[in-house]
Amino acid sequence: SSSEDEGEEYLFKIVIIGDSAVGKSNLLSRYARNEFNMHSKATIGVEFQTQSLEFDGKEVKAQIWDTAGQERFRAVTSAYYRGAFGALVVYDISRRSTFDSISRWLDELKTHTDTTAAMMLVGNKCDLESIRDVSLEEGKSLAESEGLFFMETSALDSTNVKKAFEIVVREIY
Ligand code: GTP
Ligand code: MG
Repeated sequence: SSSEDEGEEYLFKIVIIGDSAVGKSNLLSRYARNEFNMHSKATIGVEFQTQSLEFDGKEVKAQIWDTAGQERFRAVTSAYYRGAFGALVVYDISRRSTFDSISRWLDELKTHTDTTAAMMLVGNKCDLESIRDVSLEEGKSLAESEGLFFMETSALDSTNVKKAFEIVVREIY
């Protein structure tokens, strides 16, 4: 059967935010293309990928936006967030400073998006257990107090990457 017969199509914008080098771009490339780059360069400006998913026989397209964690490389903030229905707010479990920044990222997110946006707190690089600097419990409890979904991921070994994106898409949809 042709996809036109299946009815409506959905397109949702999702943004990824968090400090520089937490792994935002690698989470996106792992999810969208199953690629990981050990030596990826800092993002300059904005990049995005459109990913198709299927829920209940309906096609859902997620347009996932990735920007620079570094202030000087960031695009216009309001334009980046405009129309976003979901967000992944990422820190690096091996670098506490990136966890400490989460409240700042949440403030910015809440300033620029609708309060109904589906938000997921993501502790990335969970493969780095031996140099862990933020406990699983701390991540969970921050997410709980802020009303966010929570997941630890690894863009390197793929742990929970698909899940993290799909929970956000499913919540929006
Ligand atoms: P900006 O674009 O500067 O904001 O950084 P970013 O958040 O996009 O980080 P990026 O994806 O470029 O990754 C930064 C570094 O961390 C790279 O060297 C990646 O290879 C590495 N990295 C990303 N994800 C993981 C992971 O899950 N585990 C490990 N061990 N390294 C990772
Ligand atoms: Mg990047």
